[in-house]
Order: sequence, then structure tokens, then C-alpha cells
Amino acid sequence: MTTVGEPDQVVPDEARPWPRGAARHYRRDPLGFVEQAARARGPVFRLPDDGSLCVADPVEALRILHDEAGDYDEVSGFFHVGGGLLGPRATQAAIGRAARTTLRAHVAAHRERLPAVVAELGEVSQWPSAGRDAVHRFLAGALLRPDSPPALRELMAHVVRREVLIRPSGRLARVSRRALWARVVRTIAAEVRHRRPRPRPGALPDASPPGPGDLLDAVIGATPPETPAEHVAQVYLLLFRTSIAPVGHVVAWALLSAAADDVDLAAVPAGSAVRESLRLWPVAWLLGRPVRRAHQVGGVPLEPGESVSVCPYLLHRDERHWPQAAAFRPERWDGSEPRGPYLPFGGGPFTCAGAAVAQTLATDLLAALTDGARLEVRAGPGRPHVEGIITPPPFLVRRTARRT
Ligand code: HEM
Repeated sequence: MTTVGEPDQVVPDEARPWPRGAARHYRRDPLGFVEQAARARGPVFRLPDDGSLCVADPVEALRILHDEAGDYDEVSGFFHVGGGLLGPRATQAAIGRAARTTLRAHVAAHRERLPAVVAELGEVSQWPSAGRDAVHRFLAGALLRPDSPPALRELMAHVVRREVLIRPSGRLARVSRRALWARVVRTIAAEVRHRRPRPRPGALPDASPPGPGDLLDAVIGATPPETPAEHVAQVYLLLFRTSIAPVGHVVAWALLSAAADDVDLAAVPAGSAVRESLRLWPVAWLLGRPVRRAHQVGGVPLEPGESVSVCPYLLHRDERHWPQAAAFRPERWDGSEPRGPYLPFGGGPFTCAGAAVAQTLATDLLAALTDGARLEVRAGPGRPHVEGIITPPPFLVRRTARRT
């Protein structure tokens, strides 16, 4: 059977149909597939499942993300709720800003708690769930304030434990995740109704919560009052998930990659290790854009209704721009080496609202893990789980005091 990447089969023409089985190959191993496809067909090719145009050309990627020509629909995939979009765009931007402000204030006020959070993982921890767990425990008060109903707080902890934060493979897992997701949305929507200010005649409305607000207050405050409570709940849940899983995974990838390439994390700046982890394993590896106007990308004609997918994963592993691209080398970020295209948080008008706070938190968490400790990583045989975001395969970490 013909497979992607067999050199004698190569025809440098993106329009050439994929051989039979290519879609299955892509679903089974998306990262391996796009790497082979880019080698065989160049930096612009169609994905075999939905025909979306995958783009790993740095100039085209930035042009797409910045979209100054208005070639793409102005929608942020982030705000899809209840079969529609929570909008307008100004509301979406306000929600992103409010979420960022809440998390940033929490990280700045509580970062000295991180060593205790790390200690609670115990001497041996199972990753990547330990990373999500640590981020959740550290951010808990910012995600849901302490005076929230205990049942809701327990439900959100259950969401983290049950790994609803990552999209599971397998039909049963998906069905059970959807059921839990629906229950959580209903419960949060009830809390939204409860928290929304109810102005009394003649009285000034008072929306301020007792004490510092949490992420749910941030979303409620940034959305018009007529927004259905279920839509507010869904956006909150997406932000809850985004605040935990990608940040935990960036730290997990740093641990795993450093172990694979024999890098002593205690000897490199944590910020450089986090940047390098996001280069090698950009958790948001494919950024989709729906085509609005007919135009061309890399010489390929596109029509309205089609879509393009900018691929940070391929851009970050292009040997022409990143020497020894497949190696984990935090020293790239010391300032001496030239750097290539780097889009872990996207670019243009839809750039990640939480980029800076996510990077700070991942850096602080990694520093707390390596500080005064010796880390022993035992990797398993698994492959990354790729659905939406890239999740590292399970591995164990033994953390013991470093002898001086
Ligand atoms: C390491 C962690 C994170 C990574 C890798 C990441 C990555 C991304 C990427 C690539 C996008 C752009 C998607 C696109 O262009 O289609 C995005 C959007 C977004 N991210 Fe993050 N993110 C992270 C953490 C966070 C956190 C902690 C927040 C919480 C404030 C957040 C909030 C958002 C929002 C609101 C958007 C939508 C922006 C808009 O459309 O206006 N992200 N993120």
C-alpha cells in the first residue's frame, strides 16, 4: 500500500489526491503524518480528513493569522457555544482580558505557594495528570472563589480528576465525557444566575463579589447581562480547561524532553526550558481559519467554505530555521542563536489572551519542581495523544532532594 513519505511516490503537487488509508494514518498519528507530508509535498498541503489546507510556510502562516486582507471569517474558535458563537468580537476580547487579569493577579499574589503545591505531589508522581493537578490546586481560588457552593467546587475537582480537560479517544469515553460536560454546564449556569446582580428598584446594582473575584466573575462581568447563562457557563468551562491542561502539559513536555535529551533542568533557566518546550511541543499545534474570500495560499486556490490550518508544530521543527530542530535545547533562548518562526500562542488579532500569564505560571511551576531537587523521569512506551491539543504520553517522575 502506498504511504505518505515513500520518496519514489512523491509528486510535489498539493492537489494530488492522497492514497487510500491516508485519512486513517492521519487520525492514528497526526504529528507523524504531517511531518512526512511536509517532507513529501512541501510546506503547503491538504489534510486528508477534511481537506483543510495545512500551512507550514512562515510567511504564509503570519499572513493568514494577521489576515490584513480580510480573507478569513473573523471568528475565534475559542468562543463556540451552544452551536453558535458568543459574540460580538468586542465581548470576546473583553472576556479574554478579564480572565487574564484574574489569573495574573492570583499568580502574582500566591506564587510563593508553588513549592508547597509541588511537595504535595509526593516523591513519585504520575504525569501528565500530576501537572494538571498541580496547576489546578495552585489556581483553585482564582478559578472558583472559596465561597462558591461546595458541590460546585467538588464537581470542578471531579472534572480535573476525570480528565475531562483533555479530549478522550474512544466512543464510550467521549459519550461519558459529554454527559459530564452537560451536567457541569447546567450546574455552572445555575451559579451564573445566582451571581448575576439583581438590581432592586431605587437601589444601585452591586455586582461586586465579597473579596477578590474569580474566573466566573470575570466572565459574567465581561458578558452582556442578556447572554444566556448556559453560554456564560460554556465559555467559563473552556477558560477553566485552558488555564489548567495546556499549562500542565507544557511543564510535562519540558520534563519529558529534558530527560530524553539528557538536559539537567536545574542547570538551565526555567523560562528557557518552557520556551523550548513550547517550541518542540506547541500544545495548540494546528490553528484553523475558515476561508471567507477566494484567494491563494502558496499558489493553492481557496474558495469560501474551505479552511486553512496553520501548523506551529511543523513551523517549529523546520531545520532551515531551527538547527537541530528535533532536539530539546533550552540554550537556544539564551539570546545568542538566530531563531525561527515561533507561534505557540498564535498571532494576529486572535493571539492567546493568556500567553504571558501561562508562560509565567509554567516557568514558576517548573522552577519549583527543579529547585533543590533531583528529578528522575521514567518514560513509558506511549505516544502523544493528539486531539485538539497535544498531550504527552504517561510517565513517572521521582523527585528527591539534591545532594550538594
Ligand atoms: C500554555 C498555555 C496556553 C497555550 C499554549 C495557549 C495557546 C493559545 C493559542 C495558540 C490561541 C490562538 C488560537 C487561534 O489562533 O486559533 C489561544 C487563544 C486563546 N487563549 Fe490561550 N493558550 C494557553 C493558555 C491560556 C490561558 C491560561 C488563558 C486564560 C486567560 C488563555 C486564553 C485564551 C483565549 C481567551 C483565547 C482566544 C483569544 C481570542 O480569540 O481573542 N489561554 N491560546
